Parts: sequence; C-alpha cells; structure tokens
Amino acid sequence: MKMTVGQLSFTLETRLFPIIGRPMGQSSASYAYNPLFSANGIDEIMWPVEIPVGGLGDFMAAVRTLGIRHFCLTMPHKAPIIQYLDEVDEQSRIFNSVNIVKMENGKFIGTGMDGKGNVAAIRAAGVNVQGMHIAIIGAGSIVGVILLELAREGVEKITLINRSVGKADALVRTVREYTDMTIECIPLTDGNLNKLAGKCDFLMQSTPLGLAGYSHDFTCLDFMDRLGPRAIVMENIVNPPLTRVAARARERGLKIIYGMDMMLGQIGKIFEFCYGFAPKPDHIELARRSVRQFFNFRG
Ligand SMILES: NC(=O)c1ccc[n+]([C@@H]2O[C@H](COP(=O)([O-])OP(=O)(O)OC[C@H]3O[C@@H](n4cnc5c(N)ncnc54)[C@H](OP(=O)(O)O)[C@@H]3O)[C@@H](O)[C@H]2O)c1
Repeated sequence: MKMTVGQLSFTLETRLFPIIGRPMGQSSASYAYNPLFSANGIDEIMWPVEIPVGGLGDFMAAVRTLGIRHFCLTMPHKAPIIQYLDEVDEQSRIFNSVNIVKMENGKFIGTGMDGKGNVAAIRAAGVNVQGMHIAIIGAGSIVGVILLELAREGVEKITLINRSVGKADALVRTVREYTDMTIECIPLTDGNLNKLAGKCDFLMQSTPLGLAGYSHDFTCLDFMDRLGPRAIVMENIVNPPLTRVAARARERGLKIIYGMDMMLGQIGKIFEFCYGFAPKPDHIELARRSVRQFFNFRG
C-alpha cells in the first residue's frame, strides 16, 4: 500500500536512505533526492539523521540491522567513516573525503563526489575551465577532491586563499604530488583577496562564511568589485541559495554557479554510483524545482 504525506510517497517496503551529519537542521538534500526517487521508481526515502561525533560505530551497526543500502554523509563524518568501509577509491582516501556509501555484495563501498559534482556543475553551466586561473577561498574537506578534478579539466593555475595557510599548504603539496597543475596558497586577508580577484578568471567561494546557521560572513565584499567583467563566480554554499557573495556577483552581472548546482551535479554522480544510471535532465530539473520551492528561491 502506498502512503503519501505532503510530497512524499512510501510503502511498507520503502528503505531508508539517510543523510547523516551534525548539525543537519539546514540540510536541503532530501528535497532534491526524494522527487528523483519517485520519478525513477526507486523505493527509498531520504531523511536527514543527526549523528554525533564519535557515533559512527553505532550508526554502522544500525545500517546492518536495518538493511540500509545507501547513505550520504556530510560534516563531520566524511573522514572518520573511512575506517568502517571495505573499499574506498584512492582519490577519496588521499583527501579523506567520502560522502556516499553503498552496500554491495556484503561490502561497504565509499567514495567522495564533492569534486565530481563541483566539476559537473561547472560543465553544466557551459563553462570550460581549461587554461584558467582559478582562485579558491577556503581549503576545507571538499577542496582537495575539487582540486584533482579541476586539474583533470586542464585548469592552468589555482591559488588557494585560506585563513590557516598550513592547511592550504598541505593540500598544495599533495596536489603537486599527483598533478602537474600550478598551485599556490596565500593567507586570507582583504588585501590578498583584492589582488587575487583582480587577476583570476574564476573565483570559487568554499568556506562557510555566509552559510545559514553559521555565525560569520565576509566583513568586506570589495574583492567582488575587483573581478573582471568576464569572471565566473562559484558559490559552494547551498543554504541560503543566494549568499551575499552570489548576490554581489549577480548585481555585477557576472556568471554565477550556485551551491545548489553543485549539489545537483553530485546527485547525478551519486545515482550512477548507487543505481548505475544518471537521472534524465528533466528529472534533475524536477529536483531543482523542489529545492528552489523549499528555499522559496526564484533567482
Ligand atoms: N554545494 C554542495 O554540494 C556542497 C557540498 C559540500 C560542502 N559545501 C559547502 O562548501 C563549503 C566548504 O565545505 P567544507 O566541507 O570544505 O568545509 P570545512 O572543511 O569546514 O572547511 C571550511 C573552510 O572555510 C574556512 N573558514 C571557516 N570559517 C572561517 C572564517 N570564519 N573565516 C575565514 N575562513 C573560514 C576554513 O579555514 P581554516 O582552514 O582556517 O579553518 C576552511 O578552509 C561549506 O560552506 C559547505 O556548506 C557545499
């Protein structure tokens, strides 16, 4: 028997596909995944589940008991999950970044899709990054895998600008080991940001500055006015859909790739990983409409 609550449909056979993290109050992923499950006849339902730091052992026992086949992860579990998995690809292991796990033939197999999803969003926006100089603000858990994917796309140079230079420098050294891409890092100051914005082709914002529920935002957005008229701005934050950085880029008439686009880019890759096919473009549009509706975003 099919039951419907609001936009959700499920049966008594429907399996849980949790997305776990902490905090999960701002998570919008279920609004994208559930319409795609319905549209593709997948009898699973995504639900955000808050798991505390140190709670992964209990969670994995629950996954086995409940027969969960797939789960997504967000911070702070992307690195600690690796010790519980049977197989993780080299790239995700190098950067300690797994955000999707499937159970296949009795084995837990995990991979990180943040890099692939980020590049899928760039491609879907019709942007070719080959030969570009990209500036990335932030050097957190998703940046390593993004760097490797950008190197594969033929980016000429990347400058990381981060609060903790030591952390960014560790990424730079690892990326140099695996790619020939030119990469450097500099400390995050208003002066450096202004100078960098004046010379890059593409600016990616990858910190939680401006994220819903996070206490800090950029104090000064002057760097946005230094970007050239053909510069591309990518904001990785999903919630809110229009951060102050994205709003300033929009005021300037610059091309913007939103965090929501990156999330949808990842979903395509996650469907291929879990089910062996990518959702059709009109189904991705269905998911986009559902997330926009959730945010009441008309941008
Ligand atoms: N669209 C999507 O599908 C998607 C997927 C995953 C993540 N995201 C978003 O991408 C962003 C980055 O995620 P992440 O997992 O890499 O985050 P993370 O591991 O927590 O890293 C955060 C980065 O932001 C910097 N930062 C944090 N607070 C700061 C502050 N007050 N001032 C200056 N810098 C600050 C950190 O600098 P330090 O190194 O100095 O600590 C670090 O480089 C987040 O906003 C997240 O919501 C989007």
